[in-house]
Amino acid sequence: MRKFLIPRQWILQDWETNAGQPDIRLFLAWFRAAQWAYRHWGVLGRLVYSPYTLISSTFLGIEVPVSCTIGPRLRMYHKVGIVIHGECTIGSDCQIRHAVTLGSKFDRKTGAIVFPTVGDHVDLGGGCALLGGIHVGDHAEIGAHAVVTKSVPPTAVVVGNPGRVIRIGGADSNPAGILADSSPAGLSLVAARPNPKATQRQAAATARRRARRPRTPEAAITGAGHLVRQGLNRSASGQDEHATTVNASD
Ligand SMILES: CC(C)(COP(=O)(O)OP(=O)(O)OC[C@H]1O[C@@H](n2cnc3c(N)ncnc32)[C@H](O)[C@@H]1OP(=O)(O)O)[C@@H](O)C(=O)NCCC(=O)NCCS
Repeated sequence: MRKFLIPRQWILQDWETNAGQPDIRLFLAWFRAAQWAYRHWGVLGRLVYSPYTLISSTFLGIEVPVSCTIGPRLRMYHKVGIVIHGECTIGSDCQIRHAVTLGSKFDRKTGAIVFPTVGDHVDLGGGCALLGGIHVGDHAEIGAHAVVTKSVPPTAVVVGNPGRVIRIGGADSNPAGILADSSPAGLSLVAARPNPKATQRQAAATARRRARRPRTPEAAITGAGHLVRQGLNRSASGQDEHATTVNASD
């Protein structure tokens, strides 16, 4: 008889964690119930989890299958577009946003289909994709729209496509305590290499920004004086002439 009793505790914890978001509270309660039915009720469970699967994927645009494992107290900010592979595991106290993908990948080396696992207290930014047989360590933060195809160490902050670690030790983390006890072998740092095209774009944007700065006397003193030094004295603007004067008197 006990197997028919859905664990109220998990539902209540999700409920509390997602205070103020009734739609998410209901969705998670429904997911936990459907998952319990799938795991414990045998054929009868289909009556509960089939409608869940059908309605959530067709009408809500979410694919969180009952076969995946999600720890307690999941914080879901937005639910649209979330796609999680049925074999994935997400730890406890994680945060997930819209359009997050935890997807499988064909591993060319082993010929197997591999899929990601996520530790505890992981924060998944909107639109990020975790692909293949990787592990995201506890307390890691994955930035919005990051594409992560390599394992992430605990407490790392990862951004971009391809994902790169910009920092170890997220805002809410305790690196000393966490790194000491949870660094499973095989976790590799996502290569933190500079992207040459992005660097070029950034340099061009900085140059444009500088060229647009107002050429007031203050600007001449604090930075835009380089325009004056280059002999750019536009007679249409009295300010430019003044800037020349200020600069010339340096
Ligand atoms: C990744 C994240 C956690 C980093 O936050 P942070 O630690 O405060 O980092 P910062 O804002 O100081 O940014 C550090 C650098 O990373 C870059 N960066 C931050 N987030 C990024 C992202 N998602 N993609 C690409 N680069 C990013 C910043 O531009 C900055 O670069 P710079 O050093 O060259 O200036 C955060 O930016 C993020 O993406 N959170 C997800 C939030 C989200 O999905 N919100 C949606 C709500 S609906």
